[in-house]
Amino acid sequence: MNTLLVEGMTLEPQTSAHADEMFAVLSDPAIYKYENEPPASVEWLRNRYRQLETRRSPDGSQQWLNWVVRLPDSRLAGYVQATVGAEGHCHIAYIFASAFWGKGYAFESVEAMIAELAASYGARTLWAVFKEDNSRSYRLLERLAFHPAAPADYRRHGVESDEMLMTRVSYL
Ligand SMILES: CC(C)(COP(=O)(O)OP(=O)(O)OC[C@H]1O[C@@H](n2cnc3c(N)ncnc32)[C@H](O)[C@@H]1OP(=O)(O)O)[C@@H](O)C(=O)NCCC(=O)NCCS
Repeated sequence: MNTLLVEGMTLEPQTSAHADEMFAVLSDPAIYKYENEPPASVEWLRNRYRQLETRRSPDGSQQWLNWVVRLPDSRLAGYVQATVGAEGHCHIAYIFASAFWGKGYAFESVEAMIAELAASYGARTLWAVFKEDNSRSYRLLERLAFHPAAPADYRRHGVESDEMLMTRVSYL
């Protein structure tokens, strides 16, 4: 995986060495207003990150890519994530601590990741699933030129009734 540079930020390929710093970032309860929960412990997170260093799903069929986002002042703010499947289909996700919301960091980081996914991983169609009440996520995806997916795509992707699916082509 390449290290990505954008707007003074550095997107570093995530490794187990990031676990201590990321545990602090991911302990922010505001992140989990709509879904998921914080990591149980630093050890749990380190172990999880170690597994993710394979950059593959357990069955090997997908590439699982994670970059942590380092700000110009060297603090970690969050991470961006991509699941690269067959035929250029790629799911993305992103999590930033709330101290770093409202500054465009997520926008710049996700856009840089999308460019890398297209250039280095053959991504053509991008997908994102999120809870429909998560208006920040919706606004971020709109700014990134995603649009709501068609009903058939909802069925194909197994989207739950309280979730929204948005999509975009990579433009490369
Ligand atoms: C979803 C999430 C990443 C959005 O973060 P965000 O900071 O709102 O997103 P952006 O980086 O696009 O920032 C947008 C805000 O920064 C402002 N901004 C400032 N400079 C900007 C710039 N250069 N470019 C874009 N936006 C900029 C925008 O005006 C906007 O302000 P607003 O919040 O008042 O509307 C964040 O809320 C989060 O991590 N939530 C928890 C995890 C989660 O729910 N993830 C989604 C499921 S995968």
